[in-house]
Amino acid sequence: MEIVHDPSAVQHLCEAIRKGGRTIGLVPTMGFLHEGHLSLMRRARAENDVLAVSIFVNPTQFGQGEDFDSYPRDLAGDLVRLEGVGADVVFAPRAESIYPKRYRTFVEVAEITEWLCGASRPGHFRGVATVVAKLFNLMKPHRAYFGQKDYQQTVVVRRLVADLNFDLTIVVLPTVREPDGLAMSSRNARLTPDQRRVAPVLYRSLRRSEEQIKGGERNATIILEGMREMIEADPLAQIDYLALCDPDTLKAVDRIEGPTLAAVAVRFGHTRLIDNILIAAP
Ligand code: PAJ
Repeated sequence: MEIVHDPSAVQHLCEAIRKGGRTIGLVPTMGFLHEGHLSLMRRARAENDVLAVSIFVNPTQFGQGEDFDSYPRDLAGDLVRLEGVGADVVFAPRAESIYPKRYRTFVEVAEITEWLCGASRPGHFRGVATVVAKLFNLMKPHRAYFGQKDYQQTVVVRRLVADLNFDLTIVVLPTVREPDGLAMSSRNARLTPDQRRVAPVLYRSLRRSEEQIKGGERNATIILEGMREMIEADPLAQIDYLALCDPDTLKAVDRIEGPTLAAVAVRFGHTRLIDNILIAAP
């Protein structure tokens, strides 16, 4: 396993791998790795000659007052996990090398970044699109792997790849959950024991919306009301957004007529958790 900190060094390394005819599967992460990340890596390991992973807590995707400073970090522990899944290349740059003093260029994906997480985190997807574009240019993957857990992010990254003609395939894999349904997230580590006890309500509310749709309910307002009641039953949970939307355009729907994305964002104190499920057409 090769650990590289310098952007030009990783670029040369990945170029040499490509020229040698080997395929590169990239899993971009912000570290503090859990089973969700590892599931992406195992798939990338199986589908490519070389498994490349980036670990970078990207400052440009955090807004003012967000948790950049307190975001959990554990590079030593991550490296042990990366050895375990058989990573070949680990890129762990310093922020100053990705965004040097005179850095001025940002990638903006319009419209689909304006609502859901984009509304509560202005500038977030600009930071994501920028760093992902930079990672693609540096690490030249044939395939890049993302989790459905961050559904809007997958839509944004697919748009970015299509619009800027990146020559690679995006692979999106299912959300890995704790036994009680809570989607795995590096941020779960920041929940107090009480908050952790309540947190599975995100997934329960999503499942409830699915059951209602399966039971014949078509009115989005009624379904969202049911989810709201369930989440607000515990005062530790503060709803950021609840949405039923078109899985491709991410536009909110009034009536459930086709496949639907149910998505939630909930705050527990300073910790904001998101989750979603895709519900098949009724
Ligand atoms: P991070 O939150 O570390 O997540 C890295 C990848 O792991 C993302 O594609 C995310 O969707 C996926 N992931 C997280 N939790 C998951 C789970 N429970 N099941 C399956 N996949 C899961 O997402 C980011 O980092 C950053 O925005 C990044 C893309 C690296 C750009 O900075």
